[in-house]
Amino acid sequence: MGNKAYFLSFLIGFALILSLKFASAQMVPAIFVFGDSLVDVGNNNKLPVSVAKANFPHNGIDFPTKKATGRFSNGKNAADFLAQKVGLPTSPAYLSVSPKSNSAFMTGASFASGGAGIFNGTDRTLGQSIPLTKQVGYYESVYDNLIQQQGLSGAQKSLSKSLFSIVIGSNDILDYSGSSDLQKESTPQQYRLHASGARKFVFAGIGPIGCIPAQRIKNQTDHGCNEGSNLMAVSYNKGLNSMLRELKSNLTAISYSYFDTYSLLLNIIQNPATYGFAEAEAACCGRGKLNAQIPCLPVAKYCPSRRDHVFWDLYHPTEATAAILVDAIFDGPKKYAFPMNVRQLVAV
Ligand SMILES: *[C@@H]1O[C@H](CO)[C@@H](O)[C@H](O)[C@H]1NC(C)=O
Ligand SMILES: *[C@@H]1O[C@H](CO)[C@@H](O)[C@H](O)[C@H]1NC(C)=O
Ligand SMILES: *[C@@H]1O[C@H](CO)[C@@H](O)[C@H](O)[C@H]1NC(C)=O
Repeated sequence: MGNKAYFLSFLIGFALILSLKFASAQMVPAIFVFGDSLVDVGNNNKLPVSVAKANFPHNGIDFPTKKATGRFSNGKNAADFLAQKVGLPTSPAYLSVSPKSNSAFMTGASFASGGAGIFNGTDRTLGQSIPLTKQVGYYESVYDNLIQQQGLSGAQKSLSKSLFSIVIGSNDILDYSGSSDLQKESTPQQYRLHASGARKFVFAGIGPIGCIPAQRIKNQTDHGCNEGSNLMAVSYNKGLNSMLRELKSNLTAISYSYFDTYSLLLNIIQNPATYGFAEAEAACCGRGKLNAQIPCLPVAKYCPSRRDHVFWDLYHPTEATAAILVDAIFDGPKKYAFPMNVRQLVAV
């Protein structure tokens, strides 16, 4: 290699190291995560009777440890990727941290629980999960802890720059076949969070749940998407948006980013090749029609190439899909992330 080429590769290497360093610089003090299995990082492992668990193979086969962690995914989920974007470790599952004091929650906590809904009664069929009201209650005790450590104004200052991310509603719709006023039921929880220091919210709308493998196999014709479920998701999202606009005008100190999961995920499902996928209908892990008649249990089979599949199991996206969604949550154009994306929310 000539000197010039050598110098050039040296420069490129140096630039790469610099960009990695900047990419991993911490951008916010903490992330608090509320929601369901799309962002659960292990809370349900600690629930005694819950059926909604994922702490067994083949979940986690592409996770850095190659082990099941409780994430409903072959690898990382959206909570991991969002934390990565802002240079933080993934917020720990609240129930798996003990003692629940000291500096355990300095960079955030996750209260998300597979199967959870906005309604306390959602998940009555599956068994136990942590409904949104209870997740917010857990957060309030973390808040009390932070005040003890940092004092009221210290805690409030740090929380006002932290992200409060809320990914919930799919289970309510899947279980109840939906009420268009559902999002209003969650409004009191936003007020509780606001009263306990939250100022920056990240809301993910509901995806095209009619297109998950579990819903497709119910369509006898051609495994098409369930139009009814998709319509409910659209109507829920519409309601969530007007609720958020109202919330913002009532609580002027808050800022939020709404992510249109529905539009992007539907785009991925309709144009899989554009995003590097070969299979947008069948689950990777499972058995039977579209691998969606039997869940991703240890007896199930799984596809050799997870990067090809939009869906990991009958309900959940693959790691690859989650990464694409979070790229758009963070840097996305206004058509997917509005009134601002998370990078802009962080800078507010
Ligand atoms: C859920 O239960 C809690 C306490 O048990 C109650 O305060 C809350 O209003 C309930 N929320 C909904 C949406 O039913
Ligand atoms: C089944 O799929 C087809 C298109 O693939 C769609 O037109 C039809 O509405 C679907 N059925 C239901 C019940 O959603
Ligand atoms: C905003 O405030 C009005 C008046 O107090 C109230 O009726 C409405 O429910 C609030 N909306 C939201 C989304 O908080």
